[in-house]
Amino acid sequence: MTDTPIPNRRRFLIGAGGALVAAPALANSGASPGNPANQPPKVPEWSQFLGDGVAVRAYGKPSEHEAHVIRRDVQWLTASRESSVSFTPIHALDGSITPNGLCFERHHAGIAEVDPVDHRLMIHGLVDKPLIFTMEDLMRLPRVNVPYFCECAANSGMEWRGAQLNGAQFTHGMVHCVMYTGTPLRLLLEMAGLKPNAEWLLLEGADAAAMTRSVPMQKALDDVLIAWRMNGEMLRPENGYPVRAVIPGWEANMWVKWLRRIAVGDRPWYHREETSKYTDLMADGNARKFTFVMDAKSVITSPSPQAPINHAGGFTVLSGLAWSGRGRIAGVDVSLDGGRNWQHARLDGPVWDKALTRFYFEFDWDGRPLLLQSRATDETGYVQPTKDALRAVRGENSIYHQNGIQTWHVAPSGEVENVEVS
Ligand code: MTE
Ligand code: CO
Repeated sequence: MTDTPIPNRRRFLIGAGGALVAAPALANSGASPGNPANQPPKVPEWSQFLGDGVAVRAYGKPSEHEAHVIRRDVQWLTASRESSVSFTPIHALDGSITPNGLCFERHHAGIAEVDPVDHRLMIHGLVDKPLIFTMEDLMRLPRVNVPYFCECAANSGMEWRGAQLNGAQFTHGMVHCVMYTGTPLRLLLEMAGLKPNAEWLLLEGADAAAMTRSVPMQKALDDVLIAWRMNGEMLRPENGYPVRAVIPGWEANMWVKWLRRIAVGDRPWYHREETSKYTDLMADGNARKFTFVMDAKSVITSPSPQAPINHAGGFTVLSGLAWSGRGRIAGVDVSLDGGRNWQHARLDGPVWDKALTRFYFEFDWDGRPLLLQSRATDETGYVQPTKDALRAVRGENSIYHQNGIQTWHVAPSGEVENVEVS
């Protein structure tokens, strides 16, 4: 065994895109000295006793040391938690799949606690044969597995009027990305048989809000899923158990949870949600309507206000997320100086269609203040705009569809703050 030559230390890490990253020289960051009794040469507590056996933790949870990695809300944003939002702790996650228990939630009337045995999904209206499905019926249909991001149209909406919330979780955490299992809505519609004038659908939830949204038929037949699983397990109650609509690339408000009814019609239904809320009020008083697609966007998740740099200069990993409702992410550029100079970030992990994509940028920090920005480009060639460029076109009245470039100021101490540069 001792004869085996120790392989040369790997000089390079190779990213998914084939990009080379020089192996860094790292010193201990020394941010938290901890308890010397548990550190070499001492034998730590956890090496001295038997631990829990199998199945003691019948449904596994993260380590107690990760208890700070949770969804959080901003209580002054809304009057009640039943009609509010919690944010994904994107600053504390990596990769591109969101753990189920950390997916942001947005409810208009709290979480519906649906019994899957009693739950029904009805399709009616301009169809040859109205249908009512039980969950068992749905789960017997052919199914597909696809990862998609789900982003509330109001994500980053507080930032229209300037830097407001101090944390990527709060500025950009109304997004999650999980692997859905479900059946294409097209199949259900084919089973019901569409009348020639069937142009729009109304989706309705079984929560006390009976939340409804109109969806154009073309989208419904293209890639909409009726999904019952996320990341392999059944949907969480918070995210629509036992069944929700998945409307890839489009604003999350349309992803009706606890889905109980699909009405087929020849025009959109005008109702409170659409007419007064999910429109974008412009400076001239006109409102943009039917702004369904979520345009390309990105954010640096670390460093960020809740994930400061905890070492004094030297090798630093910058990381973030990019996504586009129009397809795949083609590239992400990063600036360390508030948008004057840009360099390519390294995409890492799968680059899926309409899903979160992870990027990294490794650099040597000289300890001077930084103005960090990221800028996503998608496969259509669309480039994420600056916030000022967005405002020039859309004004500042809306709280929706704010996909402008985010700036984080890094102080020499490593602390990070939400700022704006122009
Ligand atoms: N569906 C129902 N039935 N009720 C709701 O309140 N909220 C919508 C949408 N679907 C909602 C709903 C909004 S505004 C968003 S942003 C997404 O669900 C959030 O999905 P999530 O809770 O799984 O993150
Ligand atoms: Co929403």
